[in-house]
Amino acid sequence: MCGIFGYIGSRKDAGKVVVEGLKNLEYRGYDSWGVAWKSNGSVSVRKDIGKISDVRSEDFSDECSLAIAHTRWATHGGVTKLNAHPHTSCDKQIAVIHNGIVENYEDLRRDLAAKGHTFVSQTDTEIIPHLIEEEMKTTKDFAAAVRAACLKIHGRFAVVAIHAASAMLVAARNGSPLIVGVKRGKGEHAPALSGVEGYFIASDIPAFLDQTRTVQYLDDGEMLVSDGKSIFFSDIRTGEERPKREIEIQWTQQQAEKGAFEHYMLKEIMDQKESVARAVNQDDAQIMTLAKAIREAQGTFLVGCGTAAKACLAAEYFFSVIAETHVNVAPASEFKLFHHFLKPESLLIVVSQSGETADVLEAMRVAKSAGSKVLAIVNNEGSTIAREADYALRINAGPERAVASTKALTGQLAVFLLIAYALAGKLQEGKTLLLETSAAINDLLNPRYIERLKTLAEKISAKRDIFIIGKSWNYPMALESAIKIQEVSYIHAEGFAGGELKHGPIALIEEGTPCIALIGKDEVEGDSISNAIELKSRGGYIIGISPERSDAFDEWIRVPDATAAQAIVNIIPIQVLAYFLAVSRGKNPDMPRNLAKSVTVK
Ligand code: AGP
Ligand code: GLU
Repeated sequence: MCGIFGYIGSRKDAGKVVVEGLKNLEYRGYDSWGVAWKSNGSVSVRKDIGKISDVRSEDFSDECSLAIAHTRWATHGGVTKLNAHPHTSCDKQIAVIHNGIVENYEDLRRDLAAKGHTFVSQTDTEIIPHLIEEEMKTTKDFAAAVRAACLKIHGRFAVVAIHAASAMLVAARNGSPLIVGVKRGKGEHAPALSGVEGYFIASDIPAFLDQTRTVQYLDDGEMLVSDGKSIFFSDIRTGEERPKREIEIQWTQQQAEKGAFEHYMLKEIMDQKESVARAVNQDDAQIMTLAKAIREAQGTFLVGCGTAAKACLAAEYFFSVIAETHVNVAPASEFKLFHHFLKPESLLIVVSQSGETADVLEAMRVAKSAGSKVLAIVNNEGSTIAREADYALRINAGPERAVASTKALTGQLAVFLLIAYALAGKLQEGKTLLLETSAAINDLLNPRYIERLKTLAEKISAKRDIFIIGKSWNYPMALESAIKIQEVSYIHAEGFAGGELKHGPIALIEEGTPCIALIGKDEVEGDSISNAIELKSRGGYIIGISPERSDAFDEWIRVPDATAAQAIVNIIPIQVLAYFLAVSRGKNPDMPRNLAKSVTVK
């Protein structure tokens, strides 16, 4: 949630740089935007409601080498121009952008107000520049004042601050991501010693991927100070230096762009022609080690949020059906209630595309405090979850920018299937199945198939409700289908285990209600068809997503027979359908209302 981007260096067009880079973070929040830049010894701020993508970077033409920018996902205070970041101090010398929540902001605001500070917004963030201003009355040193202010803030945050009288950019993190991009060059201003042309400070890598792939990660409880030529990392509490390694990341700018596609969501759906095969590309020895860890664990728990939680539910079926292994699944946000069952011999498997989701991080910390080991299945390289886990498996999906998770899910499912096959002592069989499935997805995502789903979407896009049913691993995919349709098209969609309908929800079916049945050629195929017929008998319009046609279907969407990998292929037409449902209802699927890509608040 919220995109943060700052630049300090030898370039003279810092305002333009941050506006352009911030456009690549818009998926993190898009209710309002703002920029602060330093020129001629003063700080200027421009902000407004709306999308950063609509802002022209050429309008930020003041000569400056230090600028910060923010795209907001409001937590405290409505979506207004005054609530947009950056926020400033009383004397307008300090500007701050912030991601997270200042939990004790009411107390701090009261104290600061008593000292004469006045506030113009309803945000929690606004207390931060005032706190820094207050601290500067005693220290005079900007970085020291930011440090002192951070120590007074409770809650998770990432903060970037600038001051009219300081040549420094100061940033701090506690729970929300901040990554530094290091740009080297031969520019006339780049000092010979370090060769550094400038630093980018961002909440995610795509902000600066067109500039550099050399990164340094700020960890929780750390801050940084940079003058654009060098950078100093330290512990917020003690002030001690925290030396950092420079890491070269693998993602390319091309992977992060939407190319000829109108939306990232469709681009990322189409990426699945290759991304499933990339997920399968794991080190066999590591998969075997992890399978052994699951076999030996005294209790294995799987957690994630939203789509990733549905991957965990599917994995519960994979482990049971393929490997006869029991695991416990919970939404990450509910996990701490099960802490009594954690021992040092237990294993927590966390799944997260972004690797930054607050509820997942909390679940990890609960497990770690019980001494349990944590395996993370992640996409984002170098994310907090990947770095804090004992073991990390990457799904190698490449950057996923649309809010709706698509290729990350199929990558997560592929990795879980590999582990399940390894647990059953059949890793090579699992690999072969997944590579065949990947080839089948490549054939499936052809223009005729996409057109067919578009036509279907147009046919049902005016409906009030859509129901989705599935059994076995198609049940979590029915739940996932509902999320996909809800989040981008705003149609009321609900997923059920096929057998559960007759226990209540079937009362909702009316003449012509679209009902999607996810089916595979497996031991529950017959029961699934019966469930579809039950719906048809109540007037349901049955859309069968299945390798085989059935008389129960009013529409048949063919999918390849992928046996145990059926969940992966069955969800793909749903993703395409959800995309076109959004488009045909005039919604932007990349920016669903009220949502943000990475949910870094609890
Ligand atoms: C998926 O379409 C959603 N936008 C959402 O449920 C997402 O999967 C969830 O927020 C978890 O994110 P993560 O994988 O980055 O942890
Ligand atoms: N709590 C702050 C606000 O509502 C920051 C939210 C964010 O992370 O975008 O402005």
